[in-house]
Amino acid sequence: MSNAPTPVPALRWGVLGATSYIATHLMPAVAATPGCELTAVASRPGRTERAAAAGEPFGATAHPGYASLLADPAVDAVYVALPNTDHVEWTVRALEAGKHVLVEKPMAMDEKGCARIEAAAEASSRTVMEAFMYRFHPQQARAAELLASGAIGELRVVRASFAFAIESGSGNIRLDPALGGGATWDVGCYAIDVPLYFFAQAPERVSARFSRRPAAEVDTSAVATMDFGRGRSAVVDYSIDYGPRAWYELQGTHGTITVRNAWAMSGEDGVLTVLTADGVREETVPAANHYQLQVAHFAEAVRTGSGVRVPLADSRRTARVGESLVASAAADGAPVSCGDGSPAPQ
Ligand SMILES: NC(=O)c1ccc[n+]([C@@H]2O[C@H](COP(=O)([O-])OP(=O)(O)OC[C@H]3O[C@@H](n4cnc5c(N)ncnc54)[C@H](OP(=O)(O)O)[C@@H]3O)[C@@H](O)[C@H]2O)c1
Repeated sequence: MSNAPTPVPALRWGVLGATSYIATHLMPAVAATPGCELTAVASRPGRTERAAAAGEPFGATAHPGYASLLADPAVDAVYVALPNTDHVEWTVRALEAGKHVLVEKPMAMDEKGCARIEAAAEASSRTVMEAFMYRFHPQQARAAELLASGAIGELRVVRASFAFAIESGSGNIRLDPALGGGATWDVGCYAIDVPLYFFAQAPERVSARFSRRPAAEVDTSAVATMDFGRGRSAVVDYSIDYGPRAWYELQGTHGTITVRNAWAMSGEDGVLTVLTADGVREETVPAANHYQLQVAHFAEAVRTGSGVRVPLADSRRTARVGESLVASAAADGAPVSCGDGSPAPQ
């Protein structure tokens, strides 16, 4: 009898929405991840040729509609790459169809939506995670490691700034209020997530001011502050009007860690700067593909039943803070409470 280990079946992925970003980033990441296969892509009815074109390089089946892909027994895990307004509905439907789900950010545009997803995941015993791919880049782990080592003392202020520019009249879903557009639910998610991640809690209250470029129907830029209690705070800004920025800074009682390109693409090194009273030093974190690291982590979580690195509690918190920023901006920057009632970590 052979002692060779039994091969683990591959996790077979299907993608809802044949977007160009998915075709250039996510699909190659799935195809390149050991133990994963890209088996299906779906477009809306009448647009199957888009799904066929996106899936062709990977030998994936094209489905004439999202429900058709969910009924495909050759799909174990679904990537939801749809406009923000469709994330909750299609994530819940995929979970009900027995699929595991990696869903684009934001998982939902309110906490209620995350709660619906949580209930569906519990009922189906399937794995679900919000695709905050930047968290998987080793430079974020290095920043967390430096912080935990006491390199900058106790964390007091987090500053995060995320931006990229979108042309008016481009038909981009980010400018369409009916599809969940706006800077807050697009690039803002990342800026919001950074302080929540490093303080490991929700702020007690937030305040925000939004602005719109001329003729825009959605918020296109924002500046917000967050109060985490005990003298700890965050300042975030984000925009779909400005040039690219994906930067954050962790300031502690003894120094500051700066991460200059938190979205580092697969060919780019990460660069961290640590400033203390002893001087300034730079660290390079070698280039990594955060999309692929995210896919590999998700597949491992499905196989082993272990927890995911972006747990549902984090997604609920991000959605609640996003809702609170929207409420504050509507009230001309008035403070809005959004704590989760849990005690602040000591
Ligand atoms: N993590 C990242 O790096 C990253 C980067 C970009 C985007 N995203 C996220 O990915 C999601 C999609 O963004 P995207 O930039 O890929 O958008 P996109 O290029 O406009 O694609 C959205 C897809 O959704 C489908 N869709 C369904 N209903 C639609 C409607 N009414 N109008 C337009 N498209 C519709 C379309 O696919 P079919 O026609 O094939 O059905 C379309 O290709 C968003 O949630 C966004 O936040 C994440």
